[in-house]
Amino acid sequence: MKQKAVCIWMTGISGAGKTTIAGHLKNDIAHKLKIPIYVLDGDIIRKGLCNDLTFNKKDRLENNRRIAEVSRILVNAGVTTIVAFISPLKKSREFARNLFAQGEFFEVFIDTPLAIAEARDVKGLYKAARAGKIREFTGISSPYECPDFAECRIDTTACTPQEAAEIIFKRIYNK
Ligand code: ADX
Repeated sequence: MKQKAVCIWMTGISGAGKTTIAGHLKNDIAHKLKIPIYVLDGDIIRKGLCNDLTFNKKDRLENNRRIAEVSRILVNAGVTTIVAFISPLKKSREFARNLFAQGEFFEVFIDTPLAIAEARDVKGLYKAARAGKIREFTGISSPYECPDFAECRIDTTACTPQEAAEIIFKRIYNK
């Protein structure tokens, strides 16, 4: 039976591992299911479609609203869509969920303790945020609302990114 397109919405703080896990998951889905798949990534989208937006609450809501609408369009077109955005607000994620039918939307919490993301600090942004050079930084000076319910939670301290992708794949496709 042909696999229907879904939206896989990854949420988590900066440096949690969303982009890396999304890359592995995309490869696994493409390889195992041979269906069209696309990754929408915050760092990339903010350079183009959303380059008019800041990181204040209103703009984060707008950023996440646009991405929810884009993923709705892609899923309508039959393209499975992995979203990798901090999406710190429950309200944004609820908005996205409500655009989809039951079984079409999977919220995946990429759960990494702040101390670990900050210690990795791959982009040097935590250091800059602590120094007050970046304002409204998620986890430091801007809130991250953990999901109360997510279809899947990945404890990144307990698995590799590839293992995380496999856990998500199994959870969604049951195989
Ligand atoms: S969201 O909160 O609006 O969903 P989004 O995922 O698009 O965020 O962008 C997050 C990325 O922007 C981070 O991975 C980081 O590289 C960069 N960034 C720059 N400034 C900030 C900030 N103030 N807070 C969080 N991330 C920031």
